[in-house]
Amino acid sequence: MRKTFAGVGVLLLFIQIITVAQVAQKPDDLLTPAFHKAKRDDLRRIMPPNSVAVFFSNPVRSRANDGSYKYHQDPNFYYLTGHTEPHAVLFIFKETQLINKAELNEVIFVRQHNALKELYDGARLGKEGAREQLKFEVAYEGTEFMNFKIDFSAFDKVLFYDFFNDVRNTEEVGDLFELIEQFKQKVGYDQKDLNVAIEPKKNNIDLVSLDVLMQKLRGIKSAEEIALLRKAVNISTAAHLEAMKAIEPGMSEMQIQGLHEFIHKHYTAEDQGYQSIVGAGQNGCVLHYRINYKPSVQDGELILMDVGAEYRGYTADVTRTIPVNGKFTKEQKLIYDLVYEAQTAAWKKCKAGTTFASLSEITNKVVNEGLVELGLYKSTDPADMVDSATGRNRYYPHGCCHHIGLDVHDKGERDVLKEGMVITIEPGIYVPNGSPADQKWWNIPVRIEDDFLVQKDGCELLSDLAPRKSEEIEKVMKESSVFTTLDLPDIDHVK
Ligand code: GLY
Ligand code: MN
Ligand code: MN
Repeated sequence: MRKTFAGVGVLLLFIQIITVAQVAQKPDDLLTPAFHKAKRDDLRRIMPPNSVAVFFSNPVRSRANDGSYKYHQDPNFYYLTGHTEPHAVLFIFKETQLINKAELNEVIFVRQHNALKELYDGARLGKEGAREQLKFEVAYEGTEFMNFKIDFSAFDKVLFYDFFNDVRNTEEVGDLFELIEQFKQKVGYDQKDLNVAIEPKKNNIDLVSLDVLMQKLRGIKSAEEIALLRKAVNISTAAHLEAMKAIEPGMSEMQIQGLHEFIHKHYTAEDQGYQSIVGAGQNGCVLHYRINYKPSVQDGELILMDVGAEYRGYTADVTRTIPVNGKFTKEQKLIYDLVYEAQTAAWKKCKAGTTFASLSEITNKVVNEGLVELGLYKSTDPADMVDSATGRNRYYPHGCCHHIGLDVHDKGERDVLKEGMVITIEPGIYVPNGSPADQKWWNIPVRIEDDFLVQKDGCELLSDLAPRKSEEIEKVMKESSVFTTLDLPDIDHVK
């Protein structure tokens, strides 16, 4: 008896260790299966009668030889499933269907197990995992899709996103390539025949409406999503704050990028929501500068840092522009304070009921009039402000605001602000070398970008951990940094 008890005890302990090990591999604050199910139900509610919505997982992207880029799930797919693996497809039916003798209103096909691949890449969820962990009532493997009897011609609408034809054939049965090819056959999709944007439908395929529905849903964040966005923003602004304290002339752009990303990892953010932009001087004028190669940022330059952490899928989008040596020059401060004024003016207007267009108008007005006052523009006549080569406002060439969420430029309606939207306000002024303005303004790039939660009577500034005001930035830059004591060997001169 004793022996048996001991044996059972050891077995239980073993099971417990395995369970703990499995649980420990996943963060405990991910969105829940109930959240994802609620989103599928929300979508079903707004789908047209007798329709089916189809979502494919993101493809795996080639990086080099047999290496791939780090996998990132398609945000729509993640939003509706919580599934983080490739090679999957999801069907959501408006009405309950009888398929293969089963009643169902949704079904997911996921990657099948493969012992050898799992030896290299880790465990796959499989269809049983899709049932047990993602809580899908009906889940199959991709290999079962071929024989899944679904008559797409019976639907009034088959809603899906068009394909980009950029999916690699992995040769594994039931992979994404095969799922797409089989789906195209089943649904009668022939790219040559489709002129969907212009012509009324030739059949029941609809490549336009699904995005409209997803914008409606994803633009308004639930409490769980707002909590994750707050975390992503706090992590990002903690990193901006620390970078402000650490930066000094002679550091490289990449090193500064590393400071941010180290802090993101410290707080277990899995990634950046977009490639980090760290550009000093002229480099800051490249709106989506990503090389971050400058080996030595210079005394007297501004450095623009547009860096945001992705936490449990949700990304912040925060930009701070600071003087490398800790003190703005007269011209830098004039431009900086003008951008600050534009952002603050838009923030004051920001609340439910305001339009995106009016936020844009107000930042444009403050920037353009300010630049006339400073002498960079002759007047606010478009002829004096528009750069003929780009067709854009010469010194403020981008929009002011966008949704953030699972995408940095997240899906969402873009007419009127509604409670629960989370948006950026990000005016900027960029005066590159060789501009028509007086030379004293050259090499000044400034963007201030913050994240806001839209509420009934205003907008909550989420990203206030990192100072925005020029005087506060100068004050913080005098503080010592946790990175000051980082003393690494000179590897070019080690024996
Ligand atoms: N980080 C990209 C953007 O600000 O829109
Ligand atoms: Mn942005
Ligand atoms: Mn940004």
